Amino acid sequence: MTQPVRVAVTGAAGQIAYNLLFSIGSGEMLGPSTPVVLQLLEMTPVLPSLKGVAMEIEDCAFPLVRDVVCTDNPEVAFKDANWALLVGAKPRGKGQERKDLIRENGPIFVGQGRALAKCAAPDIRILVVGNPANTNCLIARKNAPRIPDDRWFAMTRLDHNRAQAQLAKRAGVPAADVTNVSIWGNHSTTQYPDFLHAKIRGRPAREAIKDDAWLRGEFIATVQKRGAAVIEARGKSSAASAANAAVAHVKSFVAATPAGDWTSAAVISDGSYDVPQGICSSFPVRSNGRGGWEIVKGLDLDAFAKEKIAASIKELDEERAVVADLLG
Ligand code: NAD
Ligand code: LMR
Repeated sequence: MTQPVRVAVTGAAGQIAYNLLFSIGSGEMLGPSTPVVLQLLEMTPVLPSLKGVAMEIEDCAFPLVRDVVCTDNPEVAFKDANWALLVGAKPRGKGQERKDLIRENGPIFVGQGRALAKCAAPDIRILVVGNPANTNCLIARKNAPRIPDDRWFAMTRLDHNRAQAQLAKRAGVPAADVTNVSIWGNHSTTQYPDFLHAKIRGRPAREAIKDDAWLRGEFIATVQKRGAAVIEARGKSSAASAANAAVAHVKSFVAATPAGDWTSAAVISDGSYDVPQGICSSFPVRSNGRGGWEIVKGLDLDAFAKEKIAASIKELDEERAVVADLLG
């Protein structure tokens, strides 16, 4: 019998988790033949609400869900976990930037990094969703030295999906016809959504769209500021699209990336493209479907792209300095 995959989810009674947990339970994330154990972490006062979520999971009678653990103890939540989805953190409100959350949310990732190092399975992979995601990922990573660099991700898949959707809308094609989108840098307003290498039905997006002013201006700004636009419209930060992106991220790293394409994720830089080693920055990445992945190498970046990426790296450096005391 297939061993269940243990998936830890933090912030499990929050709004992203309310969507995410049911996609995991249904098999959408890990496939229709992979049983799962859900290991759910919440803050102590929120445990009664988490109990309600667990009741709803039970009421779905998901054939793949073997157990649901609810706890306020990270060492219980991360025990033998194969995937940890670190969602639990405060969301920003109207008028705030994600980095305004850094001193409030950053400390969460110190204890969780240590607990992951102590308790998780040897093949653990971690996706940080809670904002500011890149720097929170760096904090957890630094507090878990025994877990290798290649297991850590911060989520930029939502930005990737947003960029894909905006290009598709402009070109009047389904989103699936847009490939080779990439997000570089920070999950923030300085991120660089790369249209230069994007393709629409196999042709360069620039040739298909024929409007460089839109690509360099409105397209980039829309993707960079989409999170704030959702908050403005909804009164709360994105939740269903964030859960969808987390599922897509995990699927992309469990399966092999289709030939010729790539996805985006913030990873611990190996120094590629002059992004300083050790910084958690988004890149185009490819998975081999066996747990391994690589940053896509050899892409030509023009002066415009280099300038945008450098600005985002500068911001990541500044964020790192703000949490220097939390870096293990
Ligand atoms: P939410 O407030 O609805 O839920 C967060 C949950 O986390 C709450 O239930 C809270 O009790 C819990 N929590 C807080 N501290 C915790 C801790 N130490 N351990 C366990 N649980 C803890 O928020 P949400 O809308 O689900 O968003 C969660 C985070 O994800 C926010 O920081 C948000 O900004 C971020 N986010 C990131 C992306 C992305 O693309 N990277 C997208 C959307 C949202
Ligand atoms: C998003 O991009 O939607 C999230 O990071 C939430 C936010 O604060 O914008």
